Amino acid sequence: MTERKKLGRNQKDTNDDMINLVDNLNRDDDLKYNRRTFLKTAAGASMALGLATLPFSVKAMLNLNEDVEKVFIANLSDVPKGESFNFTYPTEAEPALLVHTKDGELKAYNNKCTHLQCPVFYEKEENVLLCPCHKGYFNVNSGQPMAGPPQRELPMIELEVSNGKVYAVGRKIRHG
Ligand code: FES
Repeated sequence: MTERKKLGRNQKDTNDDMINLVDNLNRDDDLKYNRRTFLKTAAGASMALGLATLPFSVKAMLNLNEDVEKVFIANLSDVPKGESFNFTYPTEAEPALLVHTKDGELKAYNNKCTHLQCPVFYEKEENVLLCPCHKGYFNVNSGQPMAGPPQRELPMIELEVSNGKVYAVGRKIRHG
């Protein structure tokens, strides 16, 4: 009769423990490699994204204009003081508003409200830009929000007046 090795409590006479140990080692290695791969991928993706958006960030930081073409908006005589004129710029899909203020200033902005995109109008009496949807007010001279829900300014369109004609000649990027 062969003598069997004396086993302690909870010990089995099989290779199960060894198999489990090897399994656990492999799992630890997998986790380590997966974590490393994930970190490498995340770092790579962040770097790629940063590089891809760099030109836009620099433009925004330097307050540069977009490269857009000169577009005729209206004859100055058609937009007297205290009046406004709707147009689109720089594309057909981007509505804009030319304002000839009561003080004689010419201003233009893309007029989708920066809150929830309702159209913004010139409110002649108060000399402000008003979004009627939730009573958002913008400064007509700067396009900055003054009251109500909007937190960001309207994109400002740069103007040129020549021979009684008003042109859009660029759009100022003021936030990223
Ligand atoms: S959409 Fe203009 S204030 Fe809400």
